[in-house]
Amino acid sequence: MSLIDAVFNRRSVRSFLTDPIQSEKKSQLLNFINNLEVPFEHSVQVKLFEASGGKKLYTMFTAPKDNFAIMSETDMVSISKAGFIGELVLLYATDLGISTCWFGHYHLRTLNDLMPHMTPSENDPRWSYGKGPVDGTRVIAISPLAYHKEKGLRIIDRLQSSMMSHKRKALDELLVGKKDLSEDIYFALDLARLAPSAGNLQFWRFDVSEDEKLVRVAMPVGYKHPKWEHPNVDIGIAASHIFLGLKERGIDFSVDIKEEEGCAVWYFRL
Ligand SMILES: Cc1cc2nc3c(=O)[nH]c(=O)nc-3n(C[C@H](O)[C@H](O)[C@H](O)COP(=O)(O)O)c2cc1C
Repeated sequence: MSLIDAVFNRRSVRSFLTDPIQSEKKSQLLNFINNLEVPFEHSVQVKLFEASGGKKLYTMFTAPKDNFAIMSETDMVSISKAGFIGELVLLYATDLGISTCWFGHYHLRTLNDLMPHMTPSENDPRWSYGKGPVDGTRVIAISPLAYHKEKGLRIIDRLQSSMMSHKRKALDELLVGKKDLSEDIYFALDLARLAPSAGNLQFWRFDVSEDEKLVRVAMPVGYKHPKWEHPNVDIGIAASHIFLGLKERGIDFSVDIKEEEGCAVWYFRL
């Protein structure tokens, strides 16, 4: 498999076998994280951590032993870069046969206990979800790293998974500018269309210039996610799929990420 195959094969998994992932796979994953090259400067960190079981961390299922946290500064652009980098790690885990699920909402106090260097204020245990940027690095999202246990979920959770998973908007609905795309650009944007998003709301929009030299990825103007505090993460996730698609097609490009009107906006210049 490759990361592109993983885009097609990845699903959010919320039921896991108790076996930890093999140490060889863990080393491969760490190696991937430590050597990951992306086309922008960043200070995103991806840290593996162990949980001790129990339903506290993820609330809907027992936490597997292995998990990872994606950490970054809390300005819009850094948060979006965290989405980009986190998704590449998640896809690589998929490539290794390990199941994952992006989690933006989890039990923060439990995470703080598991990652003792994260020290919340006693008065505001939800500090990492502050409305504006705060000083320093925060956990932006986490994911389990474990093997899928089919039929492990309660019926209600299974229904929720199947309602939220798989379905995606048609690419046409996501294009705000040019719609008749060349095959290569179509390929890259169609991969982005398959990206996971909080609540599967797929709120990214793609704007391709007439000469196809510029692809812009952003939320619709004025977009507010009903539940998720960091929708710029999702924009970074979609951008990572475009990155994979353009690379797969051998297209040269540079990437710029800017904050515009309170949102992270990705520009691919071809
Ligand atoms: C940034 C982000 C945060 C998410 N947070 C949660 C979460 O807190 N709980 C959860 O059950 N699923 C969460 N998800 C998973 C989405 O529900 C899932 O990606 C979406 O329904 C599409 O399904 P798929 O990943 O199987 O393709 C999150 C996804 C993303 C991208």
